[in-house]
Amino acid sequence: MTGFIKEALAEARKRKGYTYPNPAVGAVLVANQQVVGRGMHWAAGQPHAEVEALRGVREAAGTTLFVTLEPCCHFGKTPPCTDLIQEKKISRVVYAHADPNPQVSGKGAQILRDAGIEVSYIQDPEVDDFYRSYDFWTRHQRTWLTAKLALTKDFGTSGESGERLFISGPEANAYTHRRRSEADVLITSESTIRIDNPLFTVRLGKQVIKKPICILDREFRCALDSDIIKNALQTIWVGDHNRIETGKQRFLGLKGQVLGLESSKNLLRLEGLSSLLAQQGFHEAWIECGPRVFTELVKNQWVQEVVLYLSKKIAGSGGRLYFESLSIENHYRLLNVQETDSDRIEVWRLKRVFQDE
Ligand SMILES: NC(=O)c1ccc[n+]([C@@H]2O[C@H](COP(=O)([O-])OP(=O)(O)OC[C@H]3O[C@@H](n4cnc5c(N)ncnc54)[C@H](OP(=O)(O)O)[C@@H]3O)[C@@H](O)[C@H]2O)c1
Repeated sequence: MTGFIKEALAEARKRKGYTYPNPAVGAVLVANQQVVGRGMHWAAGQPHAEVEALRGVREAAGTTLFVTLEPCCHFGKTPPCTDLIQEKKISRVVYAHADPNPQVSGKGAQILRDAGIEVSYIQDPEVDDFYRSYDFWTRHQRTWLTAKLALTKDFGTSGESGERLFISGPEANAYTHRRRSEADVLITSESTIRIDNPLFTVRLGKQVIKKPICILDREFRCALDSDIIKNALQTIWVGDHNRIETGKQRFLGLKGQVLGLESSKNLLRLEGLSSLLAQQGFHEAWIECGPRVFTELVKNQWVQEVVLYLSKKIAGSGGRLYFESLSIENHYRLLNVQETDSDRIEVWRLKRVFQDE
């Protein structure tokens, strides 16, 4: 990765999880090997990263613009970046990921080349991975789902009487908050809310950030005074589509939406969850549910990524057989392992996703 693309990616990373339905993008403007402008796309409807990097620049002849994603060439909520790049007389554009959006794909680069601007596409695996959920959402109209589960050494997920257990250590918790921050929407279940009453906010240092929260609640019975509802940016209740009117009446006046999925044998058919959330513009979701939802999602390969925190603690409530029967390794490939003082953090990715690439 060129140093300047790395800097552009660092800009983009600051807003991952906050720009849906747009992708997070970063850009740096370089003159004589020095960064003279930098920018990121803050949120949908706000200026694009290229505009921010060029803010205050009158004419940029002789400069190179490094941008994580191919510059856009269409009118959305803001005008095309390709117009601005030509207007400022930028000499060269380097981008690291081709936009899968058919309105832009290859066209943004071609418009700039036709205008006499030197354009280089330097594909970069780190940038490709950064855009995995945006690519997935654009190509398949589905939200990239990641399910996390924390397990004790004896494969327990809660206390002996089903009560909440603080399983993971500080590094795993910090990892959770980073992943919550990078996701467009966070998912949990009515059962987990009833037992744990979690806040489900993003806590990074002293910052507390509210996110859209999706609650799997088949019968729309989630308690209205739950901390999660008070701390959500908006709430998306997903329940049985035959009960949708009950849900709308129950949550009337609260900020959010009530959506329906089909259900069978008293279970929501969670295979439809990814498309349902994609229609709301969410590229990426982070799921923190208990073992029932986790099992359903993983054994059916309805999540693209699985994150396990394997703790050194013993709970006395173990479920080794249940966990081993999931055979995660059959359908998921181990992507990353991090050993901390208290936990082993494993990231698994669906093998089929690799085949799609
Ligand atoms: N270790 C961890 O990482 C972790 C994380 C979160 C929670 N927990 C613990 O997990 C426990 C709760 O676990 P749980 O297994 O009871 O709850 P769960 O897996 O979080 O969720 C089950 C809930 O999801 C709903 N649901 C909807 N569709 C479903 C489907 N297709 N399959 C399964 N459930 C579906 C069920 O609603 P209906 O009953 O209305 O159908 C039920 O309320 C708590 O003790 C909590 O502390 C552990």
